[in-house]
This record gives sequence, C-alpha cells and structure tokens, in this order.
Amino acid sequence: MKIGVPTEIKVHENRVALTPAGADRLVDAGHEVFLQAGAGAGSGQDDAAYTDAGATILPDADAVFGEADLILKVKEPLPEEWPRIRRGQVVFTYLHLAADRELTEALMETGAQCFAYETLEHGGGLPLLTPMSEVAGRMAIQEGARYLEKPQGGLGILLGGVPGVTRARVLVLGGGVVGVNAARMACGLGADVTIMDVNLDRLRYLDEVMPRNCRTVYSTPLTIREHLVHADLVVGAVLIPGAAAPKLIRRADLSLMKKGSVIVDVAVDQGGCVETCKPTTHADPVYEVDGVVHYGVANMPGAVPRTSTMALTNATLEWTLTLAELGPGRSIRENRPLATAANVIEGKITYPGVAEAFALECVAPETAAEGLE
Ligand SMILES: NC(=O)c1ccc[n+]([C@@H]2O[C@H](COP(=O)([O-])OP(=O)(O)OC[C@H]3O[C@@H](n4cnc5c(N)ncnc54)[C@H](O)[C@@H]3O)[C@@H](O)[C@H]2O)c1
Repeated sequence: MKIGVPTEIKVHENRVALTPAGADRLVDAGHEVFLQAGAGAGSGQDDAAYTDAGATILPDADAVFGEADLILKVKEPLPEEWPRIRRGQVVFTYLHLAADRELTEALMETGAQCFAYETLEHGGGLPLLTPMSEVAGRMAIQEGARYLEKPQGGLGILLGGVPGVTRARVLVLGGGVVGVNAARMACGLGADVTIMDVNLDRLRYLDEVMPRNCRTVYSTPLTIREHLVHADLVVGAVLIPGAAAPKLIRRADLSLMKKGSVIVDVAVDQGGCVETCKPTTHADPVYEVDGVVHYGVANMPGAVPRTSTMALTNATLEWTLTLAELGPGRSIRENRPLATAANVIEGKITYPGVAEAFALECVAPETAAEGLE
C-alpha cells in the first residue's frame, strides 16, 4: 500500500505520525512510504533519515494526499486538509469526532475510511491513547505548577511547599492513565494529592500503589464540590470512551474555588469536564473565568514532540502495518481492534459514541464495510 505522512499543521503541533524506524519497517513489509518534506523536523527527524529508510520525500501536502492510499497523521484533519481527502482513501489518526460535529460531517462527505487512534480497543484498554495520556498527565502538573506562580496569574504557591509551610492541594478528577500520571508527578513534587474516580476497582488499585501523600475519593457531584474548596490545582482527566466528557465542574462551582487556583482540563479534547473550559493552544494556553485560571490545550503532548513522537509511533506502528496489509475492509472483518477504530466508513458513522453525540445513525463497521476490500 502507498502510505502518506503529511506535516501536521495544527498550531504548535510538532509531532509526526511516523519515525524513520517506522518507515523502515513499512518499506521492509513491502509498502511505499511518502513523506512531506520537513514533516519530521519538529521531532528532530530530518528528511535524509527517512530517505535512508526507503521513503520518498514529496514537496507538499497536496502531493502526499494525492499519492497515498493510506494517510497517517497525528491530529484530526483541519478544514484546510478536508478537500485533499478523497473517496476510498484510508485515514488513520486521532479524530476525537464526538467533540466536533463539523469535522464528523466533513469526513462523512469525503467518503474516506476513517480510523481513529483513540477508540482502538485491545486487551481491555485503549493502547493508542495510552502513550499520549501518559505524556499529557505528566505535563498537566508541570503546566499547573507554572500557572500557580504569581507572575503567571496564579495563587503564588509552590506545589511541594517547604519545611514548615503547607504543601499545595492537587485534585485529580479521573484515575485513569492521565490521572495516575498526573498524580504521580504531583506526589513526587510533594503536593497533597486527591484522586477521584467512579470505578471502585480502580480506586482500590490506586489506594494500594500510590504514595502516602495521595488519597482516593469516590467521585460524586457533592464530593467534587467539597474538594474544590481546598484545591490549588485541579486536573480534569475523565473519559467515557468515544463520548463527550461529563461536565463535573459547573460555572457556579468556580465560586467555591480560591482566586488564582488553576484548572488544567486535559479532557478538553473530548469537550472538557469543566463547563467553562474551552480548547486553547500552546501559543495562548490560559484564560481566567471568575478568578480561576483555566488551561485547556487540546494537544498538550505537541509541546514535547521528541518524547511524544517516539511514544506514539511505538504504539501505532503494529496497527498501521496490519491496516496496510489487510486494507480497510478486511481489517474491519478480520481484526477486532481495528474494527473498534473504525469511526466513519463509506460515509457512515460506525462508532456508537460519535453517533450518540450528534443523534445520528450508527451502522456496524462490518455492515458499512460490506464488499469493501
Ligand atoms: N489534552 C490533551 O492533550 C490530551 C492528551 C491525552 C489524553 N487526553 C484526554 O484525557 C482524558 C483522559 O484520558 P485517559 O487516557 O486517562 O482515560 P482513562 O480511560 O484511562 O481514564 C478515565 C477515567 O475517568 C474515570 N471517570 C469516568 N467518569 C468519571 C466521573 N464522573 N468522575 C471521576 N472519574 C470518572 C474512569 O473511571 C477512568 O478511570 C481523555 O479525554 C483523553 O482524550 C487529552
């Protein structure tokens, strides 16, 4: 199959969907790889490393989209990219459709076969979400600590305190991959950490493995409000797979919080779990509502592209190889995890969470892919 890797064009997005090592594996398996010139530069990978691996460098995005049967990306296609996607072309990338009706409808219209990294299920987990969640969770504390500094508009508090001075309180909503990585970092810095979740088994596990300065609390609207009163930093880390995030903090709840406290809503890419949180970019990451600093960068791992590109491609490569080898139709019929990644096939929505978000019809991926190679 002809596999195309365009340069990511989202603001401050420096990741690339394939490393030279990945290109080498794909070429070795008999595929052709077409990379847009400079696509790897932001991640410290130059064109020569890709050509050494057997890839062909093309001058611009039009050439890559025009040549490839399978487009491999990192972020969702932006409006500028929509007209380049053609009927029958396979697109494999993060899509996060449940948070974006316009994109969903645009992809349905293209007639492309769209597979989303974030919904691919395997071994009871979401293996293509995990590495970016690990990065974003760890970064949430780094960024939160920064915006708690007075010159950045925050309370002016050090997460770990110092001897004789109380440590900051960090509230983490959701104890999944983002949550546990955020909590670990905050604990390591010496903060007083609380993780909330609705999954009791997960809370039991966290209670066993987390350090002593981390406690677990069952998440309800009331327990959240009680903890907001004391929190210096709140990290939003909930997920209902493939669906919009539940709003756990309402605007009225902000009045319970300290002026200058910080919310980092990592779940913003699924609509956010804080009513007042909206997507921001690394160029302008924060804004204030009712005295509370909001950080809502939807592509946090994009700020550390060297780490993120390696982490992402380590996880995606095996699935890309399978998708390229079987093609979209057989992948859906013969590979259960790739069927769970199918979001839009032959113009139809094939992922229930996306259809529910917009009250649209959902067709089983196997039905939508009938007769498709
Ligand atoms: N902004 C970014 O750059 C970025 C990067 C990576 C991931 N994310 C997002 O972060 C979010 C979390 O991802 P994850 O990998 O940690 O997911 P996960 O599935 O590992 O964890 C989500 C957790 O939320 C819990 N949860 C569900 N409802 C809850 C509620 N009402 N109260 C408390 N907890 C609740 C679940 O039980 C689960 O443990 C997702 O929306 C993901 O898309 C964002």
